[in-house]
Amino acid sequence: MPTSDDVASLHFRGQTHEFPVITGSENELGIDIAALRKKTGAVTLDYGYINTGSCESAITYLDGEKGILRYRGYPVEDLAANSRFVEVAYLLINGHMPTPHERTEWSGLLNQHSMIHEDMRHFFYRFPDHAHPMAILSAMVVSLSTFYPELSQHRPEEPEEAIHIAATRLMSKLRTVAAFSYKKSIGEPFVYPRHDLKYCANFLNMMFSSPVCPYEIRPEVVKALNVLLILHADHEQNCSTAAVRLVGSARVNLYASVAAGICALWGPLHGGANQMVIDMLEEIRDSGTSVRDYVEQVKASKGRKLLYGFGHRVYKTYDPRAKIIKKCCDDLLSVLKVNDPLLDIAHELEAYGLHDEYFLSRNLYPNVDFYSGIIYRAIGIPKEMFTVMFALGRLPGWIAHWKEAREDPRFKLQRPRQIYVGPNMRVLRDEDKTREH
Ligand code: SDX
Repeated sequence: MPTSDDVASLHFRGQTHEFPVITGSENELGIDIAALRKKTGAVTLDYGYINTGSCESAITYLDGEKGILRYRGYPVEDLAANSRFVEVAYLLINGHMPTPHERTEWSGLLNQHSMIHEDMRHFFYRFPDHAHPMAILSAMVVSLSTFYPELSQHRPEEPEEAIHIAATRLMSKLRTVAAFSYKKSIGEPFVYPRHDLKYCANFLNMMFSSPVCPYEIRPEVVKALNVLLILHADHEQNCSTAAVRLVGSARVNLYASVAAGICALWGPLHGGANQMVIDMLEEIRDSGTSVRDYVEQVKASKGRKLLYGFGHRVYKTYDPRAKIIKKCCDDLLSVLKVNDPLLDIAHELEAYGLHDEYFLSRNLYPNVDFYSGIIYRAIGIPKEMFTVMFALGRLPGWIAHWKEAREDPRFKLQRPRQIYVGPNMRVLRDEDKTREH
């Protein structure tokens, strides 16, 4: 348990105020400013919450300087090498690896809840053909709350069983909705989930098999997909998880809170970056611009043109996930005998970025999004679906944080303060007053 064995003193307008310091289990320090406004009349101002913690959490630990990432204490490197995604999802949501009995029960429930209500199938046909799958995904997820209203928003304490069922439902149905949104986009009939296939194999089958052509499920592809989903499963208080927590803090049900997370993840600065990386690599390939010239354009743009897949709010070294994904990418493309020219451009960009003063001085390294799209391409997933894949992976993290926030004894509605910089009080002039009533 964290201890508060020292205090922080603030000297402000001739007075000294003390605030408790919280020390986390990995010795992170947090100054608890709950009493700041009462003591000083001031609030903090921290654009982007760069220095602001919103909670204490026991789910994921990351160290941005050392490139450490652990889920419930387990290094992601170990989990990626030795576990399947559904086991890691169970770990994040429940706090421990599943026992053989729990694994069997979890697998059975995922199968039981893998179908969506037949009425929901018709929703797909009402979206325009060019609808982005992230828009469909968030709409479908919030719609689940109409078909499964068991998580009422009016009981302060949801029964544990109801949350477990809702979490399992969401874990299984999001995969089905994702595959159906792809089939809809290519005008093919939906392929239903099968109980004889495990999570990733089931997803690949729903995505790529068709009534006229069965899909060959290759173990190397299943393994690569498990690794990718595991590496995306959680990342402490990232933008989309913070959105899930914020929306959930109003006691919004799990489905609607996750739909908010999906919308936040869609952003090109966040989960949408994996699609932007491929757009960027295709732009370099198709324009004939050299990598060197492209990087110089980025540097000269003063932040208006970004090197997507590079940089991170927390990691100031190589994203540990990117290291694993890069190796997974090289291995899979070699096994599948795929020669993707975009991979060569990515390698050249990385080499350039890792030696250029502009990137080194700003601690800009490849992040989780830099190589993931190359793997999705090799599997046959179109780039419009890349952020959907990120959402599939991040879902257990969102569920875990939504649950943890509601169980937190310090749970509160999230409502940040501001510093007002608008006009001081003024009086309506006669000419501004309306005549008609
Ligand atoms: C994810 O938070 C998480 O954990 C997220 C995530 C997760 O698992 O949930 O890890 C997933 O979102 C990864 C990030 C994916 N996004 C991208 O790849 C988009 C490109 N990256 C940038 O948009 C940026 O790096 C951010 C948004 C990721 C982080 O930006 P910060 O922390 O707000 O830093 P900043 O924008 O203040 O940048 C500092 C400097 C600036 O230059 P100066 O003003 O100091 O001259 O670095 C520059 C920026 O212009 N910079 C970049 C750059 N990223 C930062 N310049 C060129 N290309 C970039 N990618």
